[in-house]
Amino acid sequence: MTDKLIIFDTTLRDGEQSPGASMTREEKVRIARQLERLRVDVIEAGFAAASNGDFEAVRAIAGQIKESTVCSLARANDRDISRAAEALAGAARSRIHTFIATSPLHMEKKLRMSPEEVLEQARLSVRFARNLCGDIEFSAEDGYRSELDFLARVVEAVIAEGATTINIPDTVGYAIPELYGNFIRQLREKVPNSDKAIWSVHCHNDLGMAVANSLAGVKIGGARQVECTINGLGERAGNCSLEEVVMAVKTRRDYFGLDVGIDTSQIVPASRLVSQTTGFVVQPNKAVVGANAFAHASGIHQDGVLKARDTYEIMRAEDVGWAANKLVLGKLSGRNAFKQRLQELGVDVASEADLNAAFARFKDLADRKSEIFDEDIIALVGDSARAAEPDHYRFVSLSQHSETGERPQARVVLMVGGEEVVVESDGNGPVDATLKAIESKVQSGAEMVLYSVNAITSGSTESQGEVTFRLQLGGRIVNGVGSDPDIVVASAKAYLSALSKLHAGVERVPAQG
Ligand code: KIV
Ligand code: ZN
Repeated sequence: MTDKLIIFDTTLRDGEQSPGASMTREEKVRIARQLERLRVDVIEAGFAAASNGDFEAVRAIAGQIKESTVCSLARANDRDISRAAEALAGAARSRIHTFIATSPLHMEKKLRMSPEEVLEQARLSVRFARNLCGDIEFSAEDGYRSELDFLARVVEAVIAEGATTINIPDTVGYAIPELYGNFIRQLREKVPNSDKAIWSVHCHNDLGMAVANSLAGVKIGGARQVECTINGLGERAGNCSLEEVVMAVKTRRDYFGLDVGIDTSQIVPASRLVSQTTGFVVQPNKAVVGANAFAHASGIHQDGVLKARDTYEIMRAEDVGWAANKLVLGKLSGRNAFKQRLQELGVDVASEADLNAAFARFKDLADRKSEIFDEDIIALVGDSARAAEPDHYRFVSLSQHSETGERPQARVVLMVGGEEVVVESDGNGPVDATLKAIESKVQSGAEMVLYSVNAITSGSTESQGEVTFRLQLGGRIVNGVGSDPDIVVASAKAYLSALSKLHAGVERVPAQG
């Protein structure tokens, strides 16, 4: 057994399955590049057979990522597996991840297949996949609620067919750490050829134990791969959080005795990027990446930390990429200084044109905001990248008037499919008037399920506002994010971005369907 723990990131596949977290291809590529900088071992880029959009996203990521293995999910059938192989064809290193449910409940009610049929389908699918790719992961969906002897037969059969990684998901987040760890251990003991594959854990967070269960799967069960997502993004209550599992194994190396290849200084930038892209805000008290994770408010703690840091700190903020509100650039800073700071922050700008667009936004921001922090720069690069995408609706300008005792008025200039349109409305407040003006043209009829405003940098009203809208229409949920020092403008940008995603209307097959 090795002492390396493989980090398999599924932010772009399982994470994206959270309602409202769907991402465009460009957004996925941007996140994949950050995951590569983070040095994750495997990037699950998507589920190629789910839709043409998913296929293209996997293909684009496979074409750009050189250091990490790129993986696509596929149900255990020849069509899904062929689509995955096709999408991964350009990858430097690729993996096909095929799965079928093995619990009595899923086999009987969902698949309507007998256990013997499931076993045969698993075997044939891995055989088929192995002819297309040398690196095959097999997942027994709802594995933790499966019958141990049956699961052992399935796993033995797929290893014999050439599966190189065996993943045992706790699909519904039902496990308890000790029980899950023992389950993995017993299963490995029952499978005669268990040493021919790497064992993997994949835990959902329904009872808040995804990280604990994954770590027990490693420590007690002997798993050497953990499947996880940035910020714990994922279906329902989410997946095992990458940052927590990585920092637990690193900080408690004395206990786990394992190495991880992650560049931890890229954790906070990755967390920010995923949160800004999906609009899933990170709670302030979230371990490692929450805004308060390294803040000491009580006098006793502050005093202790000033005297000796390790009195109250078990990790160093800078080791996970916190640059803590550092004032970096101002109005007079030039393009080179801006470019250098982006490089220091590990922010990737795809082309000179993107750099120029981001620099123009920086100058515009510096005219309106005297102090520019690292967080502002990260946000405005995200904004320029969003602006470079072919959105159907795009913000141009806004003027609005509000006065105590009067109904606010808004006038918005926007581009609709390349054509400039001017719209006006009044409303209950400036944001309401702005949205009503936009809706008077777009007439989406979408239901607003979330409107959130966050300050990008803390501690001052000068901060940029970052707005997220989550809209629902006909069973689809999309997020739009926008940032600006003026929160009404940020709201208009976010709303138009969400409407553009609705307009793009991509349909897909659910992974656990
Ligand atoms: O939770 C789960 O079972 C999954 C599998 C498809 C790996 O995400
Ligand atoms: Zn899952």
